[in-house]
Parts: sequence; structure tokens; C-alpha cells
Amino acid sequence: MKYYDILPFVHHLLSQLIQPGDTAIDATAGNGHDTLYLASLVGEKGRVHSFDIQEQALTNTTQKLQEHEVYSRVNLHHAGHEQLKKKIDQEEWPQVKAAIFNLGYLPGGDKSIVTTADTTITALQTLKSSLSPGSVILLVVYHGHEEGKQERDELMSYVQSLNPVDIQVAKYEFMNQTNNPPFLLIMERKG
Ligand SMILES: C[S@@+](CC[C@H](N)C(=O)[O-])C[C@H]1O[C@@H](n2cnc3c(N)ncnc32)[C@H](O)[C@@H]1O
Repeated sequence: MKYYDILPFVHHLLSQLIQPGDTAIDATAGNGHDTLYLASLVGEKGRVHSFDIQEQALTNTTQKLQEHEVYSRVNLHHAGHEQLKKKIDQEEWPQVKAAIFNLGYLPGGDKSIVTTADTTITALQTLKSSLSPGSVILLVVYHGHEEGKQERDELMSYVQSLNPVDIQVAKYEFMNQTNNPPFLLIMERKG
């Protein structure tokens, strides 16, 4: 069997979940790699909503999208993902098939600006109540830095408390790598 590394596995899963014309969410735009990938999957008739709190992240993401001529498929929100509910119209939610969170800090940017458990969990609560059955949330959890450990612990308590009738949670993790490698949480909204 061929094992995927975490980020290729995320993109593999997204490619299975998202069809042209769908809507997808990048909850942490960062340097725009995931937003660009989502924009390629949703196609010309689809839509991506991408969020970040840092101007630098939005600039980098805009540049990447323009270079690949897919900027018009994306709504870039200079806002935290805790504002998902406010920023995405109610009638759009049935089309949302997937949301991706790549947690932690902006690679190449200010390492003191990191995702935190409170806003991540607020966003997950919105997704849990707004997503249609069958849609999926992917979270890549980086826990090498101190705030990442705290976010990991609070996130794990939260997902373990969820009712599997509403939402099913799986963890994909390499067990024998050193230095706290990232792991993936896969959350599927059930019927
Ligand atoms: C690891 S990076 C994301 C990498 C990105 N997915 C990519 O493809 O390049 C994490 C990002 O989360 C952003 N962030 C931190 N708190 C946030 C929040 N509440 N809402 C949205 N983004 C946030 C940071 O500014 C940073 O750019």
C-alpha cells in the first residue's frame, strides 16, 4: 500500500469530494496553496470562500490566484474563520462540500500570529450546524509550537465530545516520526 504524506492526502481527499460547480471553504488561506487547489477543483462555475486575518496572507493568496488565472472563482475574506456564518450567505451552504483548515502560523511570515482553539472551535460549530450530510471538514493540526500544543489538546477534547450520529471523526497520523509531525482530522457530517 502507498501511504500519502499529510498534505498530499488532504488534496487527494479534496479531489474525491469536490466536483465542478461546488463550493468549498479554505478557513486559513496562508500562502494560498489550498485555495488555489480548491479553485482548480470547483472550476469556473464553482466558488471558494477563503479566510485569513493577515493582510500578508491575502496578498500572497491573491498573487497566486492571479498567476493561475482563477482569482474570479474565489471570495477572499480578510476575516477570521470564526465569522464564517456572517460571511457566507445562507443559500450557499447546501453547495459547500468541504472545508479545510491548515492550522498554525503563516510559513515565511510572523510566527507569533497563530490559529487558536477558541476561534477554530467556533468555526467548527458553525460548520457542524450549516454543512449538509456527506460534506467533510479537514484539519491539519501542527503541534510543534507551544500554542499548537494547547490548540491540539482543546481541539481533541472538542472532537471527542461530538455525537457520532451528527459527525464522524477520524485521525490520520504517522506514529514513528520525530518532532511532533502534523496530523489530520477528518470530520464527516452525517445525515
Ligand atoms: C499554516 S497557515 C495556512 C497555510 C495555507 N493553507 C496554505 O495553503 O498556504 C495558517 C494561517 O492561518 C491564519 N489564521 C490565524 N488565525 C486565523 C483565523 N482566526 N481565521 C482565519 N485564518 C487565521 C494565519 O494568519 C495563517 O496565515
